[in-house]
Amino acid sequence: MRTVTSVQAMQRLALQWRRQGKRVGFVPTMGYLHAGHVSLVQRARKLVGKDGIVVVSIYVNPTQFAPTEDLSRYPRDFKRDEKLCREASADFIFYPSDAEMYPGKSESLYSTYVVEELLSREMEGASRPTHFKGVTTIVAKLFNLVLPEVAVFGAKDFQQAAVIQRMVTDLNFPVKIVVAPTVREPDGLAMSSRNKYLEGPLRTQAVALSHAMLKAREAVKKSRSPLPASRLKQQLQKFIEEQPAAKVDYIAFFDPATLQPVTRVHRGTHMALAVFVGKTRLIDNGLLA
Ligand code: PAF
Repeated sequence: MRTVTSVQAMQRLALQWRRQGKRVGFVPTMGYLHAGHVSLVQRARKLVGKDGIVVVSIYVNPTQFAPTEDLSRYPRDFKRDEKLCREASADFIFYPSDAEMYPGKSESLYSTYVVEELLSREMEGASRPTHFKGVTTIVAKLFNLVLPEVAVFGAKDFQQAAVIQRMVTDLNFPVKIVVAPTVREPDGLAMSSRNKYLEGPLRTQAVALSHAMLKAREAVKKSRSPLPASRLKQQLQKFIEEQPAAKVDYIAFFDPATLQPVTRVHRGTHMALAVFVGKTRLIDNGLLA
């Protein structure tokens, strides 16, 4: 496995692979890898086969963080990430610096962004208004540097995957987007690099997100008719906030194909939620089947 840090070298390699007819699978990450990321790398390997090339990018993208968010304290451990990538049979890590990806802070040196204008409005987009502009911009840049045939994203960021799929469709990127299932801790907490912030009782309280989804699933199963979304939201908010450190940011019920909010919840409705547990903002989602 090799690590590439320069944009030029990455693109040169990618063009070479393309000329050689190699299949390239790509897993974009912000590092501090966990079992969820490892499952994405393994999926990429399955998709491109043993003769294909699997690239993992590790880059904490500043443009997807608002000034009030956790960019400066976002966890990093490159040595550990390297080991996990090697074990998961990645071939290359792309590990650029900010100066490589965004040469210069001034707009005279960087001024182009990619913006998706429909699916990125609600949920994460409503709570973090500049977030998806940063995500689509960096993913578009990474696709242009790695030139993958297939890219694998985690279902934990369900809206992100939908926004990226839309960007790929709308802008005709020749990349197939694969969404791989969320990996969970034994108690149900979705794996996330941000779980590192959860110390002591906060870690125990964080399980409220997945428990709230189980509760919603049970309610849908038990009810003969669709449930009013507003009432279910209130009940789940109350349930989550029984945990002293938990504060709901949003709970959303929507159609998974369009991301449009629904007023009545039934089997097939998708649920997503964001909850602050102490200072840490956690997200989760799942189908109410
Ligand atoms: O999901 C993430 O880790 C990031 O949003 C991504 C896709 C790597 C873009 O920075």
